[in-house]
Amino acid sequence: MNKIFTINRQIKPFNKKITIEGDKSISIRWALLASQANGKSIAYNLLRSEDVMSTIKCLRKLGIKIKLTKSHCVIHGNGLNGYNYKKKLTLDAGNSGTLGRLILGLLTHSRSKIKIIGDNSLSKRDFKRVTEPLKKFGVNFTMKSNTLPITIEGTKNPKPIKYFEKRGSAQCKSAIMFAALNTKGKTVIKAKKSRDHTELFFKFLKIPIKVTKKINYDLIEINGKKNFKPINYRIPSDISSSSFFIIITILSNNSKLTIKNVNINPSRTGILKILRLMNVKITFKNFKTYKGEKVADIIIKSQSKINAINCPPNLNSAAIDEFLLIFLVAAKANGVSYFKNLSELNEKESPRLKWGAKILNEIGIKNIVTKDSIKIYGNPNLKVTKKIIIKNFLKDHRVFMASVVAGLCFGGKWKIADKDAINTSFPTFLNKVKYLSS
Ligand code: S3P
Repeated sequence: MNKIFTINRQIKPFNKKITIEGDKSISIRWALLASQANGKSIAYNLLRSEDVMSTIKCLRKLGIKIKLTKSHCVIHGNGLNGYNYKKKLTLDAGNSGTLGRLILGLLTHSRSKIKIIGDNSLSKRDFKRVTEPLKKFGVNFTMKSNTLPITIEGTKNPKPIKYFEKRGSAQCKSAIMFAALNTKGKTVIKAKKSRDHTELFFKFLKIPIKVTKKINYDLIEINGKKNFKPINYRIPSDISSSSFFIIITILSNNSKLTIKNVNINPSRTGILKILRLMNVKITFKNFKTYKGEKVADIIIKSQSKINAINCPPNLNSAAIDEFLLIFLVAAKANGVSYFKNLSELNEKESPRLKWGAKILNEIGIKNIVTKDSIKIYGNPNLKVTKKIIIKNFLKDHRVFMASVVAGLCFGGKWKIADKDAINTSFPTFLNKVKYLSS
């Protein structure tokens, strides 16, 4: 029973400032890269969530010395291919697709077989998207279907590859980039646009990389087998976690919120671009560039007039983790919104396109969902009064948090199961909800 979060009334107007924990994608990439650097890397504001802790545990099993204190994390990298581990090793990626997929790229040289496992949700997700390109380097995989558990057996002499990544998956692109890092010669990836944190890390670390930006894709060339220096890094706040509070503010009455020091990398801010197209005003302050990443304070106010949108699919990848929230904004918009080419949404921790439609049905918003699109009939006067129970059997953190946002903004009596799901990406989410509600 205590795993259920209950909402009995809408949130009252607020005017507050908050800070959000470190970015998840950057935290995991920092830890994985630091483990292959030559020497001692330090990160401040590393996200302390289950996905990042799974990363730390896997790296420790690979023989990497890691010290975690309240304020920072120190990783002692042993250089490229510096892992040192027992035979018959099993690594548990928990709920994290980013960890499970990216670490395979770093294991191209594994001397003995390593088994990768994950939780119930991760074990349902497609891994062929990474095993297929990694096989071309010469890596061997044993797997029953396209899912975990997978056993990887590396090769002494990986061969550089040419690969066209067509999904716009940053996890797939980054797994190939990590394999290229350990491979002599030039690997070339033609990649549909997706978040570019790995590219920015490589540039900052002076790992030989050339990125040519075309309209629909990027051409990434990497010359591997170059050792790199440790990475001291202050991780900016996560835009995906910030988005829950951005949307609470937009959809509530007479409220204002400032979120400090958020990563606003353009390959992550699709949600802000979509909101602007829906007539929502968003202001940035204290803009700066930190090690290639763009960072700013975000200021947001409640919005009474929201326009419907025919969402340009070229914004999908940069907003991929935020669509459950964007659908809630469309629920309050004036007119019919349309989102298409979204089949990747059903490949996440749970089938999120289906879950988006389910939440909209619960709050009485007409929608038509297909396997890759959704049409949402907005109602600017939306007010929910009924009882709603949300139980996501795969315990998807973003389904839980988006349901809380809906309950706080639209009213109704909500019981939302599995509040522990927030620990995957945003352990302090409910504390912040409490702070805004107080
Ligand atoms: C991530 C990439 C995205 C995103 C995920 C994190 C990353 O997935 O949904 O939460 O850190 O690279 P895809 O690679 O499937 O687009």
